[in-house]
Amino acid sequence: MTNSSAGSQTARSALIAVLQNAYSGEYAASLAYDGHAGSVSDPEEKREILDILNQELEHRELVGRMLAELGAGPDSRKERLMTVVGSTISALCRVGGWFIPMYGAGMLEAGNIVEYEIAARHAIAAGRPELVECLLHMAEIEWDHELYFRLKAEQSVWSRVLPIWPAPPPREEIRRRAGVTS
Ligand SMILES: [Fe+2]
Ligand SMILES: [Fe+2]
Repeated sequence: MTNSSAGSQTARSALIAVLQNAYSGEYAASLAYDGHAGSVSDPEEKREILDILNQELEHRELVGRMLAELGAGPDSRKERLMTVVGSTISALCRVGGWFIPMYGAGMLEAGNIVEYEIAARHAIAAGRPELVECLLHMAEIEWDHELYFRLKAEQSVWSRVLPIWPAPPPREEIRRRAGVTS
C-alpha cells in the first residue's frame, strides 16, 4: 500500500468514526429536544425547538446515508449510549427550569458545528469530496442552532451568574476553516 492510499484509508476510518458519533448524537439531540419542547410553555418557543428537533432527524438520515455509501453503518454501542444520554437530558429538561436546557443545548450545538467541520476535512482527505457540501451545510445549520440557544440563554439573568460559552467564529468562516473556499 502506498503512503497516499494508506493516508486515505486512515482518513476514511476517521470519517466513519466521526459520522458514527454524529449519527448517534443526532438521535440523542432529538430525544433531548423532545423533552425540551415539552418543558417550555411559550407556544412559539415550543414550535421553534420542534423545528430544530426535525432538523436533527434530517441530519441523522443524511449521515446514515453517508455511512452506507462508505460501506459502514451505525455503531451499536454508541447508539445505546446516546439513547441513554438523550433520554436522561430529556427527563432533566422537565425539571431543569427554562435557563439550563437553553444553556446546555447551546453548548452542545457549538460542538456539533466543529464535528461536521472535522468530518468535512476527513472527507476531503479520504477522497470523498462529494460529501463535503452536505457536511458543511449541516455545520451551518448547527451554527444557526447555537445562535438560537445563545440568544435565548443571554435573555436570562442567570447568564450573569453562569457565563455564556465562547461564541463560534462567524458562519461565513465554516467553509474556509474546513479548507473549502468555494
Ligand atoms: Fe444536527
Ligand atoms: Fe443542532
